[in-house]
Amino acid sequence: MEVGNVRVFVAGAVPGEEVKAVVESMARNKRVAWARMLERPADIEGRVRAPCHHAAPNRGKCGGCPWMHLPAQTQTLLKVARVNEALSEVPGVQPLHRLHRAPETTADMLAYRARGNYVVFRSGGDRVRLGSWQARTNKPVKMEGCPIVRPVINDVADAIAASMTAQKVPIHPEKWGARYVTIRANSEGASHVDLVVGDARSRWISDVAEAAMAAGAVGVSASVNRESGNAIRVADSKVVAGADNFVEQMGDISLRLNAATFFQIYPEVATHMYARAAELGGPAELAWDLYCGVGGLGLTWQSRFGGALYGVESVPESIRLANLNSRDNNLRARFAVADLTGGLPRTRGEPDLVFVNPPRRGLDRAIRSQLQELGPERIVYMSCDPDSLGRDLVYLSRGGYGVTAVEAWDMMPHTQHVEVIACLELRN
Ligand SMILES: C[S@@+](CC[C@H](N)C(=O)[O-])C[C@H]1O[C@@H](n2cnc3c(N)ncnc32)[C@H](O)[C@@H]1O
Repeated sequence: MEVGNVRVFVAGAVPGEEVKAVVESMARNKRVAWARMLERPADIEGRVRAPCHHAAPNRGKCGGCPWMHLPAQTQTLLKVARVNEALSEVPGVQPLHRLHRAPETTADMLAYRARGNYVVFRSGGDRVRLGSWQARTNKPVKMEGCPIVRPVINDVADAIAASMTAQKVPIHPEKWGARYVTIRANSEGASHVDLVVGDARSRWISDVAEAAMAAGAVGVSASVNRESGNAIRVADSKVVAGADNFVEQMGDISLRLNAATFFQIYPEVATHMYARAAELGGPAELAWDLYCGVGGLGLTWQSRFGGALYGVESVPESIRLANLNSRDNNLRARFAVADLTGGLPRTRGEPDLVFVNPPRRGLDRAIRSQLQELGPERIVYMSCDPDSLGRDLVYLSRGGYGVTAVEAWDMMPHTQHVEVIACLELRN
């Protein structure tokens, strides 16, 4: 909300809600402040009881689902409004009226997340828990039985926590302690685990891996993080037990995934978005897939249209999987490691179609200007942040592109996040 010319963020409040809050901190430039809610004198219409006792809106502490107390229709209105506001300066873009959901999404929008990210902590004496962060704090809080992850993820998380408790595993910041756990599951119930630890040679790791595999994991990897910052993975993960990936069927293609590399959190929505992005891209002789991860977007396009495909991404393990994914699907894409903050890769011809799916910060500055100079006929942009998307679309519109389609998708129900696809075409 705006108070005078200060933008105030109130943890746990949603746009349109009246709350009493106290400002706890302010940015140095005095234009942004963060506040703690004291009470909600007037609840917004339609507030429901969040279907999770850990959820902050239910007076629990987990900050993972800040909108869980809002009915789906209210979440839709807020997300559409957010996209419309972020894209309001983009020439030619009309306000959206719809938020797309995967047909697989259930009425309560639960059990959709294919990945659980946990911080390891101790509570109640020696008991080890896998938890989440309390909103806007560095306090770990419990989240056992989380209803928004695929159920097998909870089983594996419980097994890992029980094994760590039984073995009295050291917990970060204790020396070489366990720090974070990521569990990814596919729609068939297979899962993969990545541990972030202070020492990957610790004896307890093999017992924890065994417990995870008894609960359904196909394999476990581990990476070392002894740094003081908040980054989770700062080194490559190495397999400590079992397989290094599992397969997820995504519409017409299959993808090898694991817990140590990025992949979209709601695979059913990603499948529909990839198909829609491919359709908007249409036929091309050469397409690029920038920020390609394990290749799902570009490979979906190539499996339909058959042109040449070149994908780029900064994480070597993602590129290893992307090349396996191309081979598994009998496609002939080329994927290579490159850091796009330095600009576009030099080689690989001139694409007539470019897919981009950058992280939240949006297109790297060099990429934005080089794309404009390169001038592919179409750019299909998949974005997880409407604000950076709006900025990039304005930039590309000034450089000769027209926005021909925009769609918003609900990739993260019960949160403020919204995923958007936009198609840009070069004007003559
Ligand atoms: C939103 S994800 C999209 C991944 C993929 N398109 C998908 O659908 O799963 C963004 C990807 O950009 C990669 N990335 C982040 N910064 C990068 C950079 N500077 N250069 C290249 N890739 C980067 C991340 O590793 C991540 O895989």
